[in-house]
Amino acid sequence: MTSKKTLGIAMVGIGVGGTEMLPAFEQMEELDLVAGADLNPTTRERFTARYEAVAYETIEELCEDKNVDAVWISTPNRFHAPHTIYALEHGKHVVVEKPMALSLEEAQAMIDAAKRTGNILVAGHTRSFIPPFRKMYNIIQSGELGAVRSVNFFAYTDWLLRPRVAEELDMAQGGGLVYRQGPHQIDTVRLLAGGMIKNVRGVVGQWMPERPIPGYYSAMFEFENGAFSTIVHNSHGYFMGAALVPWGHDKQRYDEPERIMVRDGMITGSRDEEADKQAIRIGGEREVEIFKREGVNRDPAGEPWVPGEPGFVVVSCERGDITRTAYGIMIYDNKGHHEIELKAPGGWAMNRRAELQELYDAVVHGAPVYHTPEWGMATLEATLGVIESAKTGKLIDMHHQVPVSPDYGDAKIFDLPPAEAGVLVS
Ligand SMILES: NC(=O)c1ccc[n+]([C@@H]2O[C@H](COP(=O)([O-])OP(=O)(O)OC[C@H]3O[C@@H](n4cnc5c(N)ncnc54)[C@H](O)[C@@H]3O)[C@@H](O)[C@H]2O)c1
Repeated sequence: MTSKKTLGIAMVGIGVGGTEMLPAFEQMEELDLVAGADLNPTTRERFTARYEAVAYETIEELCEDKNVDAVWISTPNRFHAPHTIYALEHGKHVVVEKPMALSLEEAQAMIDAAKRTGNILVAGHTRSFIPPFRKMYNIIQSGELGAVRSVNFFAYTDWLLRPRVAEELDMAQGGGLVYRQGPHQIDTVRLLAGGMIKNVRGVVGQWMPERPIPGYYSAMFEFENGAFSTIVHNSHGYFMGAALVPWGHDKQRYDEPERIMVRDGMITGSRDEEADKQAIRIGGEREVEIFKREGVNRDPAGEPWVPGEPGFVVVSCERGDITRTAYGIMIYDNKGHHEIELKAPGGWAMNRRAELQELYDAVVHGAPVYHTPEWGMATLEATLGVIESAKTGKLIDMHHQVPVSPDYGDAKIFDLPPAEAGVLVS
């Protein structure tokens, strides 16, 4: 096969997460966005107004479409497993959003479906794919700083204030901060510390009376190789983690006056969350403004990706530390400190290209999948471990962990020229 081959791709669930991802689809010329599926008729209209693509109501209809080779699944969490399995069984390759599933049984069924059908399944779309974390992985792998000993990752955001539909307010359906945001941090610390978590101790906080879901967690992981990791995420939107970094700005999803207004609307019951949410989905009146704040620039010739703040991270190795900078990473070692810049051309969407590239390379070039469903299941196991430990007060042992692929550093995304990859300028 030649590198010119395009892959017909479709998105199922064109919501807020899907809308945030679509600019990366647009910018990757190897992909042809041929279809989408969403239950929401307004969303379907807006999707076809923007793209020369077909909009279906259901995944079943979409899977009949012979032009669709691969499907990006960004429906609500409870559909991740059934939709993935359905698409795989109907001849499609799949990238599934985090969390991969709601339970280990579901994750196992997804692994089995990928094996049975021979179709590619990428457990996708976590922060572990972004350039600074991949570059940190490169540095750790090179051994120049000695072995990795600790990875600490702290996030203070306004996630809990963002608009939610009913099912997102139900933990049984995968709602709440741990299911939704835990996989970002856990996937990242697993990537940086080798992948093999031995045990988990976690606490979960549900403090806001207007939100029947957790808005806080912290957890500590011990890795097989002796490394330790602490992760913290407080999403109540009072103190914002961006204040900890020199490049931080007060606008994550909301600036402070908006956070006050939104919180007030929730307390008094006057907020229309469905309308707030639809306003940021595709074609909504606040789509461009809000995603620009978070660093998604729809214009490929525009500003390079802005460091939307995934959190404050410090990796400590035996002979040095690594942190993030505005557009790169900083290495502190025995000679002092120096920055590696990762500024990419084009919009921040390029930053999200990695998982699409991984899918494309696997399908078209037969390259290995690194974010395998087994990898996704291991991240899910640790996510569920945080919840279980918070309930029982116990240390939870892990049984489904897998290491980072020893060849991950050879993935094509690591050595594409920056202009093509949009990543890793060093
Ligand atoms: N990785 C990220 O950065 C990121 C960001 C946001 C959301 N997400 C993920 O995206 C998923 C959706 O979250 P969201 O915030 O976009 O919610 P959302 O409600 O905005 O999006 C869900 C979309 O799916 C549609 N939908 C619901 N059930 C469907 C079905 N059975 N068939 C077809 N369409 C259906 C809804 O109409 C809606 O448009 C979640 O799994 C979430 O974790 C990921």
